[in-house]
Amino acid sequence: MRILVFGASGLLGSFLLPHLARSGHEVIAFRRQPGAAGDARGLEAQFAHAIDEARPQGVVNLIALTQVDACEDDLALASLLNAQVPEMLSRLLGRVPGSFLLHVSTDQLYGTAGPHPEEDFHPLNVYALTKYHGEFPVLERGGCVLRTNFFGRSPTPARASLSDWILGEVAKGATVPVFDDVLFSPLGLHTLSRTIEALLLRRVAGLFNAGSAQQGLSKADFAALLCRHLGLSGARLEPRSIERLALRAPRPRDMRMRSARLADALAWQVPDIHEEIEHEYPAAH
Ligand SMILES: NC(=O)c1ccc[n+]([C@@H]2O[C@H](COP(=O)([O-])OP(=O)(O)OC[C@H]3O[C@@H](n4cnc5c(N)ncnc54)[C@H](OP(=O)(O)O)[C@@H]3O)[C@@H](O)[C@H]2O)c1
Repeated sequence: MRILVFGASGLLGSFLLPHLARSGHEVIAFRRQPGAAGDARGLEAQFAHAIDEARPQGVVNLIALTQVDACEDDLALASLLNAQVPEMLSRLLGRVPGSFLLHVSTDQLYGTAGPHPEEDFHPLNVYALTKYHGEFPVLERGGCVLRTNFFGRSPTPARASLSDWILGEVAKGATVPVFDDVLFSPLGLHTLSRTIEALLLRRVAGLFNAGSAQQGLSKADFAALLCRHLGLSGARLEPRSIERLALRAPRPRDMRMRSARLADALAWQVPDIHEEIEHEYPAAH
């Protein structure tokens, strides 16, 4: 399959591209033209050029302003990258009959008690709201939207994952503050990449949660599980409440997702978090 990826050099993109290439796909990374205007008109012109040139069968959109606090400070950029960009891409892909768009969204838009089905929505911050707005045009034009959260070894030094950050702090001998009142159900980068590939190949349209088992766990328990798995018995993890941090944007406390819809669509078992950690960080047996 010829697949064009937008947001290719970020955390997920830098893992997904080599994964797709290893699976035998022709993978094209969208590259922003240096010096080109980064406003809506400038980006749209660059997207149009890339789409016309690649004539892709599959497209993955990973462009986003992912820093939650930065979204509060720059509403215009958050709206452009998180909401307008998916609309532009959906529209521009009308030029390539048979093309299929998969857009990655987030579990941040679940702001109430979980585990959440896809119908839930309660944005607590600008990031969540703008990501939510970005989902509509993709769904309206028959694409796939994946709400997710992920961890694993980042291939790019520019962007660390949550697990990279935890292990980096532990390696430094630091005391690592970990939230015991924030729940989530992340997937590893390997499973998420395989899931994206399967959805593209089967052209599965619709809105899906993509997470590990719905009982989820707190970020503190995740950190403890990861360190135990790697035999880091000396890790100094300090469980604490997210309330102790003066964060600019309010954060959801329970982002756990029900991923049964995705499991049905792909005839897939919702993975267990232990398996996901083992996939990302194979322990020496
Ligand atoms: N990281 C997480 O834990 C997490 C959790 C849940 C959901 N997600 C979602 O997963 C997707 C990928 O996340 P990620 O962590 O891989 O993102 P990331 O590392 O922050 O990368 C985002 C990408 O957006 C593009 N971008 C940033 N600023 C831009 C600008 N001004 N103009 C055009 N493009 C710009 C960049 O693409 P290029 O430089 O390559 O062009 C960058 O690689 C996003 O949709 C995010 O909302 C992430």
